[in-house]
Amino acid sequence: MTDHQLSRRSALVGLGGTAVGAISASLLAGAPAAVAAPTTTPATIAAPPATPQNSGVERRVSALLRRMTLAEKLGQLQLLSTPELAQQSLAGAHPCGGVFSVVGAAKLNVLQRLAVQHTRLGIPLIFGLDVIHGYTTNFPIPLGQASSFDPGVASTDAVVSAAEARRSGITWTYAPMMDVTHEPRWGRIAEGAGEDPYLASQIAVAKVQGYQGNDYSAQDKLAACAKHYVAYGGAEGGRDYNTVDVSIQELHNHYLPPFKASVAAGVATVMASFNAISGVPAHANAYVLREILKGAFGFDGFVVSDYTGIQELILHGVAGDGADAAAAGITAGVDMEMVSTNYVDFGSQLLVQGRITRREIDDAVRRILRVKFALGLFEHPYVDESTEVIAVSDAARASSRAAAGRSMVLMKNDNALLPLALGARIAVIGPLATATYDLNGTWSGLGTGAGTTPPVTVLDGIKAAAADPSAITFAQGCDIESADTSGFAAAAEAAAVADVDVVVLALGESAAMSGEASARSNINLPGVQEGLLAAVVAAGKPVVVVLFNGRPLTLQSTHDTAAAILEAWAPGVEGGNAVADVLFGKVNPGGKLPVSFPRAVGQVPIYYNHLNTGRPADPANKYTSKYLDLPSGPLYSFGFGLSYTTFTLSAPRLSSTSMNRRGGRIDVSVDVQNTGVVAGDEVVQLYLHDPVASIAQPVRRLRGFRRVTLEAGQSTTVTFTIGTDDVGFYDNQAKFVVETGTIEVYVGNSSDADQSATFTVV
Ligand code: BGC
Repeated sequence: MTDHQLSRRSALVGLGGTAVGAISASLLAGAPAAVAAPTTTPATIAAPPATPQNSGVERRVSALLRRMTLAEKLGQLQLLSTPELAQQSLAGAHPCGGVFSVVGAAKLNVLQRLAVQHTRLGIPLIFGLDVIHGYTTNFPIPLGQASSFDPGVASTDAVVSAAEARRSGITWTYAPMMDVTHEPRWGRIAEGAGEDPYLASQIAVAKVQGYQGNDYSAQDKLAACAKHYVAYGGAEGGRDYNTVDVSIQELHNHYLPPFKASVAAGVATVMASFNAISGVPAHANAYVLREILKGAFGFDGFVVSDYTGIQELILHGVAGDGADAAAAGITAGVDMEMVSTNYVDFGSQLLVQGRITRREIDDAVRRILRVKFALGLFEHPYVDESTEVIAVSDAARASSRAAAGRSMVLMKNDNALLPLALGARIAVIGPLATATYDLNGTWSGLGTGAGTTPPVTVLDGIKAAAADPSAITFAQGCDIESADTSGFAAAAEAAAVADVDVVVLALGESAAMSGEASARSNINLPGVQEGLLAAVVAAGKPVVVVLFNGRPLTLQSTHDTAAAILEAWAPGVEGGNAVADVLFGKVNPGGKLPVSFPRAVGQVPIYYNHLNTGRPADPANKYTSKYLDLPSGPLYSFGFGLSYTTFTLSAPRLSSTSMNRRGGRIDVSVDVQNTGVVAGDEVVQLYLHDPVASIAQPVRRLRGFRRVTLEAGQSTTVTFTIGTDDVGFYDNQAKFVVETGTIEVYVGNSSDADQSATFTVV
């Protein structure tokens, strides 16, 4: 068991049954909408879909439901996290519906046998796990994958992970995480796609499709889980689990799009988020769960609580006890309770009291059974133990290496210092140069084999690629976080050795410094790493900083002193080799930042798609929106990234100067040419701005991107088709509106894109 799991288990014990801030149960049961609901539509339970392709499943679900006792139904709503608890449950009155965080084909088969052969109805268990960026084979963290601006990278991870996990008995992954966020302090920024709802939606859909395919009963596919629903990334101060207060338009325009897109892509399940949304915890929020997700979006899978999320309604202060919490969760539309047991403990009592309805219970069970049938669990409950994946295959390694290369972002490259010659004499320095598991980042090591397969270190990767490994020297310099500077002198000496051409300085965060419950108030390079950088730079050799981190860092001094900066994120099991691929130019970096990098933490939140305000920043005018002590804007912008070659992009050409507000479309074409001497990748980006609208619109919104590979001198034309979906927005009544008037189109290779055109929506 990992530290993560252990600490979470004790947190649960601490929560046990404490009744805090009781509120009236009838108030809860009747609570209509959560976030100041924009309409008066009552929360309803959508009727089961009866499309021809799933009518077979629906018939089977209905037939099974008719045979189930209330206790058996409540059992299906329970998700447990250990084999011991599952065994007890399966032997009792409420056999549980699923088990998570149990790994190993044989162990899973033991539990499945109990469910299938030793319970009255033999309903198979669903087996969940956080397969976030790899099961056995670790891929780059999701924030890194988003930097590729290539949904294919996300989908490759999902395809490989799904096959490894399913062949090892897992049937359900708690991914993709699609929480849009403006918060680099928030550790969970590592798990998502950054600050933009459009990019996050594209990546989320690629992941859902990669995990599930067209039919997730296939023995190499998983049921996916869109999480965390919703607005979890809005945590105040970036502190995990913290409150979110959000307007209706912001909820719909900013946080909901990836979930909407994932539901449209057929995601099997959704996980509720820990945060309250405008005062109403997501786990008790009928507006977001019933009205939006199950109503407006037409989601027909099931909603799982997050870890003890139902029990936590007590500490949130919207439930007086476990019974209240269960009533609130069931009424709001959380179908399955993870870890805490309030549904099975209080479900019958609540039904007798009329605080929940049989219809609500049946709907929750129906949704869970629907996914179990779609997974093919009734036909194939067991995993073939001989297919269990226990080691990283060569093919998976190669995929991970390629994904890591495509995810890296070149942020600075003075005098074309990179790529390095294969014969360069390199001093490799820094606390991350020999790091292993830290290169996997958060959520790694859970699948079989993953915890015993250390990633390739930067030092080993560079030695393996270099013409002469003996020309590569090493000094650590300092630890990631300690205050010990005693290694600085040796590091500076290693850099100063006469025949050393260049220093590769590997800096950044440990894996544990990002991810869940890993917020930082200071997002500088940790410990004394900036001091190490200064000591090494003082030795007089050009310094390439390679960064490993799960969030944007404040990098002003690195930017000012390093000759080159490569953002490698947490690159996964092939990390060191992938870094070497880029450093030596075997891979020409083409990634772009999926999130703005602030100059100082005091600028946070800082993001490209902000509103203009009535007083946009103007250095010449004090009374405008800015800081006295910093230039405006981020240090590195959203969408920014360099290459070893150069590109020119043409102004956008529009197929028409007007778009009909009822379904019109326009093609936007951009010519892009590689004007350098080596092949490389450019990400052509399309942004829109509506300068006059009924609700102020962001200064730019990404609405298209395409990563293209061009040989030296080669050019191509990229065409984006935009429609009314791209120019419209949600208003504060949660209505999607397409307004007439001018739309500005910007194209370029970052959010600072300055080539523009306009058209009119008529
Ligand atoms: C996290 C989820 C995760 C779940 C199960 C929770 O603490 O917030 O993202 O899927 O645990 O491990």
